[in-house]
Amino acid sequence: MGQAEQKQNLLQVISGILHTVQSPLYITDYDCNVLLKNKQAGSLIKSIGQKEMRALMIGFTSKLPIGTPTFQEHVPVPSDTETLQLDIRVSRMEGEELLMWSGSDQSAEYRAKEEAKYEKDRAAHAEKMASIGEMAASIVHEIRNPLTIISGQVTLAEEFLARGKMTDEFVEKLITRLNKSTGRINAIIKSLLNISRNTGSEEKQLCSLSEIYEEVELFASMKIKGTTIPLTFDEYNKEQKVYCLPSELSQVLINLVKNAKEEIYQTPKPWFKITTQCLDDCLEIRVVDCGNGIPQSVLDKIFQPYFTTKARGEGTGLGLSLCKKLIEENHQGQFFVDASAPNTTFVISLPHK
Ligand SMILES: Nc1ncnc2c1ncn2[C@@H]1O[C@H](COP(=O)(O)OP(=O)(O)O)[C@@H](O)[C@H]1O
Ligand SMILES: [Mg+2]
Repeated sequence: MGQAEQKQNLLQVISGILHTVQSPLYITDYDCNVLLKNKQAGSLIKSIGQKEMRALMIGFTSKLPIGTPTFQEHVPVPSDTETLQLDIRVSRMEGEELLMWSGSDQSAEYRAKEEAKYEKDRAAHAEKMASIGEMAASIVHEIRNPLTIISGQVTLAEEFLARGKMTDEFVEKLITRLNKSTGRINAIIKSLLNISRNTGSEEKQLCSLSEIYEEVELFASMKIKGTTIPLTFDEYNKEQKVYCLPSELSQVLINLVKNAKEEIYQTPKPWFKITTQCLDDCLEIRVVDCGNGIPQSVLDKIFQPYFTTKARGEGTGLGLSLCKKLIEENHQGQFFVDASAPNTTFVISLPHK
């Protein structure tokens, strides 16, 4: 049998097989001229356009390195209705100088993935907005306190002035009190802006850990249902730098502090603290509260979006899934519960730069 005849026979055999395959399949020569195709391939060519399809194939073969029998790549291809997401695979049939192509359409899967990602991002944004919204009430309250002090001091100063009783000593005290109160208001507003800032444009940087902690302390000091729970920090190096997206790290810590507050504010002597340890390859931050850990049945689900044990309207169930995403995806760190610790302990570990 001559070589041409042998090739013809082979094509005939393949032709029989082609039609039993559910996904688009083609056989072409090395110049991408289609020799055989099944029905699915026919309709795919129709929706993409014959010329476009050939151009696509030629472009593709240029990526198939010599000696590599198969090559696969995901390619978005514009069609007459939408952009198709194709997984194209080409195999070289060396002896016969033929190429076998398969192009499975992954558009539906791709769309589902995109939608899931969009939904996740949207949910994360919603959680952020919800936590800012929740904080807004306490923030208004927190700003009102120093404002009351300021207006009280101003009234006092007016009276002193009217009665000709103004002394240097009084002015000095006045300035100190006004400075302290406006400083507090400034700090609250600054950290609120920091947190609500669009983090998309932020770059990872070496930040002062103590500045981040100050922000967290500020939010921790806000009352929850009339109770203030003091947040303490175990001894740490005040010069410590942390390589992070600062507003994201603050947000994670504030979320943890918020969760802890919500869990413990009714216990007799509530407390929570943050511990810091600089290890060889990472910085480890632990948020510990006076709870005795989280029951296994809850623990299994806490990182799932929308999982909450709180009453309707009290919890979104998004806080911890967002924390996990921010630490693990955006910082390549680790975020978990240390179930072996005697008290409820959330651990953030961030790799050094
Ligand atoms: N410090 C904590 N102690 C005990 N349980 C906690 C703590 N933090 C979180 N949880 C549990 O994890 C769940 C999910 O938390 P989160 O994702 O922040 O959503 P939400 O706070 O809206 O419920 C909470 O409903 C709670 O059951
Ligand atoms: Mg929460």
